[in-house]
Amino acid sequence: MRKTFEAIKSSKGQPPLVCLTAYTAPIAAACDNHCDMLLVGDSVSMVLYGEESTQQATMDMMIAHGRGVVKSSKNALIIVDMPYGSYEESPQLALENAKRIISETNCQAVKLEGGSDMAETIKILVDNDIPVVGHIGLLPQSVNTPDGFKVQGRDQEQAQKLMQDAKAIEAAGAFCFVIEAVPESLAGAITASVTIPTIGIGASNTCDGQILVTEDMLGLSVGRKPKFVKQYAALQEGIQTAISKYAEDVRAREFPSSENTYKDKAAA
Ligand code: KIV
Repeated sequence: MRKTFEAIKSSKGQPPLVCLTAYTAPIAAACDNHCDMLLVGDSVSMVLYGEESTQQATMDMMIAHGRGVVKSSKNALIIVDMPYGSYEESPQLALENAKRIISETNCQAVKLEGGSDMAETIKILVDNDIPVVGHIGLLPQSVNTPDGFKVQGRDQEQAQKLMQDAKAIEAAGAFCFVIEAVPESLAGAITASVTIPTIGIGASNTCDGQILVTEDMLGLSVGRKPKFVKQYAALQEGIQTAISKYAEDVRAREFPSSENTYKDKAAA
């Protein structure tokens, strides 16, 4: 049975929620038995498509990956990110696109970035029976703004703003929210002052749950990794070792061997 958003919402104070990103069928199948929630994150644009930022993720991309992840899982609650440009302009646009994501992927929830500025939008989605996950702190879709890609909430003004954002998201009806790249003391204070679970990424173990990009924690993605990533495997190295062995075998005519070769009926 799939986790429900009601069960996630009421899990505050219980053992931490385990969440990872999943963009593909094999990763979803590997994560499904171990995770409470899987996020089809717009980070797919960077991790799988090699784009510069999450701003290049599109509705079609999110829907194609979302469908695959839903079909390849049966336990975890599946969240699909609303991509850049699909919700910010108006609550009506957000509602139209959220409905499309839900109906075309069968996912259980959508996630969108922003705090008080997105409260009205979150409320309209929730009023239309669309479960919403919020996202505050570092907002990857705002990479081009002055605050850009850095730890958030280090000064008092920013910290107060993030606290207000968290409360606004909760009041608007989100069932949980991501806190990204925020110092431990602030993440702890926010977590203690809301009744819905907080999911940290670079926001310390004071949060009610944790999420990482799966390809980062598996050592599969290429390029610089943020300080908050713990690597649990070295798959990029493992894959390269296997591929170099394949290349060696092909060049030596050792692959395909007779075991991997079709024969005529008479010779079989
Ligand atoms: O797209 C993503 O991977 C995310 C996580 C950073 C939470 O939003």
